Amino acid sequence: MASKLASFLLRRSASNGRVVSRHQCRRITATTPRASSSLNVHRDAPNNNPSIPFKFTPQNEKLVEEILTRYPSQYKKAAVMPLLDLGQRQHGFTSISVMNEVARILEMPPMRVYEVATFYTMYNRTPVGKYHVQCCTTTPCQLRDSDSIMKAITSHLGVQNGETTPDNLFTLTEVECLGACANAPMVQINDDYYEDLTAETTVDLLKSLQAAAEQTGAHATGSAPGLAGDAGKGAVKGAERNVQGGGERTSKNQGRGYSAQGVKLPSPGPLSGRTTCEPKTGLTSLLEVKEWSDAKMRQDGAL
Ligand code: FES
Repeated sequence: MASKLASFLLRRSASNGRVVSRHQCRRITATTPRASSSLNVHRDAPNNNPSIPFKFTPQNEKLVEEILTRYPSQYKKAAVMPLLDLGQRQHGFTSISVMNEVARILEMPPMRVYEVATFYTMYNRTPVGKYHVQCCTTTPCQLRDSDSIMKAITSHLGVQNGETTPDNLFTLTEVECLGACANAPMVQINDDYYEDLTAETTVDLLKSLQAAAEQTGAHATGSAPGLAGDAGKGAVKGAERNVQGGGERTSKNQGRGYSAQGVKLPSPGPLSGRTTCEPKTGLTSLLEVKEWSDAKMRQDGAL
């Protein structure tokens, strides 16, 4: 009996070994490798070291106060993420000084703030260009040819993943799913999503942004945001982070297209012409739109 059991266990372990080795033989994808040290290590640099002072502007201090009211006072460290985000928007990137200031305000050990800022990739711990182009290459986007989008961006801008153009206008980052898979492939530029892209529409989009920046003289003149002695200067702040900042909608009936300093920019969303993520061939359900009535709404104004 024991010998039967032993041989059964040997056979099982051999077959398990085959399964494991088969599953682990995955091809490494074409994703550009990025040194892991760039994700979680801070090294002092002329534009990013603790001796560079950072304070929230009076306007943002009011926002800080408002954010803090959302949490019980004994748990105010829960506000670490929105405060880091606010700091990044003001300064242009999440520098060590931004993190230290957030730690001071929230009365928490700076290391706890560093842990958050290094975990979430949305916190840019090095300066980025005026337009931070984040190209999604996760499976749904890849199946709809995000490779060609990456290629179009890299060849048009002349930069690789993680790099910034010499004029500090664009930074390219390859990212994981941004949650717009139904409209793949897509890129996020600052706070806006551009979806249903092709190589051609991507290049057109980049050209529009370049033209708009030239009109506004937004090219950095020699110094990148946050370079030595220039911390925060030239950094993109607040609403400017949004691609449409300062632009006006040119045509309400089209619902897409913005004019920024006379340059037409596509409005965020699908560039294929469809509305949000409706089927390309038109609606197949909910064809009869019934007007909402207030029959089911509370009448006391509480909601
Ligand atoms: S896979 Fe690209 S947005 Fe989800």
